[in-house]
Amino acid sequence: MYVCLCKGVSDKAIRQAVAQGARSWRDVREQTGCATQCGKCACMGKTIARNAMAQC
Ligand code: FES
Repeated sequence: MYVCLCKGVSDKAIRQAVAQGARSWRDVREQTGCATQCGKCACMGKTIARNAMAQC
């Protein structure tokens, strides 16, 4: 499912960024571009990223 429509970032892409070494929401943003435009996806993106980081 798409989390960020502006940048076309899916929940899978966020989990993949974490799997590839992102250790903070800032890392995920930098790697995927999620929430770097309108910012409406920030809350959802952050939640998915935090959940993924908790599972590492
Ligand atoms: Fe993610 Fe706009 S939907 S920045």
